[in-house]
Amino acid sequence: MLTSMATSFLPFLLLAAAMATTTTSAASGVARRPLFREYIGADSTNVTFADVPVHPGVDFDFILAFAIDYVTHPTNPSIPPCPTDGNFLIYWDTTLLTPSAIAAFKNLHNNNNNVRVALSLGGDTVNGTNATFRASSIDTWVSNAITSLTEILTTYDIDGIDIDYEHFGEHETPEIFAECIGRLVAGLRALGVISFASIAPFANPDVQAHYGELWRRYGDEFDYVNFQFYAYASNTTVSEFLGYYNEQSGRYDGGGGKVLVGFGTDPASNGLRPGKGFFRACRELRRQGRLHGIFVWAADNSAADAFRYERVAQRFLAGDAPGFTT
Ligand SMILES: *[C@@H]1O[C@H](CO)[C@@H](O)[C@H](O)[C@H]1NC(C)=O
Ligand SMILES: *[C@@H]1O[C@H](CO)[C@@H](O)[C@H](O)[C@H]1NC(C)=O
Ligand SMILES: *[C@@H]1O[C@H](CO)[C@@H](O)[C@H](O)[C@H]1NC(C)=O
Ligand SMILES: *[C@@H]1O[C@H](CO)[C@@H](O)[C@H](O)[C@H]1NC(C)=O
Repeated sequence: MLTSMATSFLPFLLLAAAMATTTTSAASGVARRPLFREYIGADSTNVTFADVPVHPGVDFDFILAFAIDYVTHPTNPSIPPCPTDGNFLIYWDTTLLTPSAIAAFKNLHNNNNNVRVALSLGGDTVNGTNATFRASSIDTWVSNAITSLTEILTTYDIDGIDIDYEHFGEHETPEIFAECIGRLVAGLRALGVISFASIAPFANPDVQAHYGELWRRYGDEFDYVNFQFYAYASNTTVSEFLGYYNEQSGRYDGGGGKVLVGFGTDPASNGLRPGKGFFRACRELRRQGRLHGIFVWAADNSAADAFRYERVAQRFLAGDAPGFTT
């Protein structure tokens, strides 16, 4: 009796909680700040959250890189990692990027309420081997992914996910990828485990075919497109960059998300660099009212020059808002 009453009240309680949250944030009238996002953790370079400057005038996301559904051999590094059919394992630097480090980071910015942490899935390689998307079946992959990721996301108090698969198996067609990822994101949202999601495609035909199909079927599930503009040629000009922006904004139109612009501080990154006109392009997009945010790959590399361009980017986004003193 009690149980069934609790069950029948549950949807009402959830709805009431959701309405209360919406009302509070709308009533407080706080305008959303410009968005800045930064990948962190892929290179085990000892960088930690506290090292990266956070401007109070932006909304700031760390994106942990990566959780991957591959397992490495426990003792023999010459045996290549194996796909696990959606059972995700952590591949970031877990010595510094711990649950308590996330709690401390969020706590530090609690009063300003402008920081979140996301988790990126996939990435280019796992231990030197392509992190190729592999699924034995849609149902099995989604079920394993929801279980394993729910565990990681709740343990670390992570707020959202980013999809960054860059290689796809022969059997993992755009349709299969779209169903696996779309159902995963929808499932994690329904469980209340995540509140936002992004994709991170780049200009490659196979990659665009897979993310394009995901966008057609599940575009409404996504908030941002971290388009990897730094995967274009290193001689990209400002006008070419703006052309690419138009092309990709057209491609990822009509869903729930906006295309963000990004640059790389990784020596392996190309594209239009911050010292070479990236901010001129941003200024033009902002003038057109089309600058939706900036993201950076990656904190691990930016540590070498003391996060110089993270400061420039956040100051640029924050405009007149008071912020860094140095
Ligand atoms: C990270 O720090 C540990 C402990 O201080 C040190 O042993 C290791 O060499 C450092 N790694 C890098 C890549 O700097
Ligand atoms: C692969 O992983 C093993 C075990 O984790 C590690 O010892 C080895 O250095 C890694 N190899 C590469 C190429 O990263
Ligand atoms: C890794 O993926 C790329 C493209 O996605 C492909 O060209 C390359 O052959 C793959 N490498 C291996 C070892 O499979
Ligand atoms: C830019 O670099 C690409 C190769 O990455 C080359 O094909 C192209 O000709 C270059 N363009 C200019 C204008 O130099």
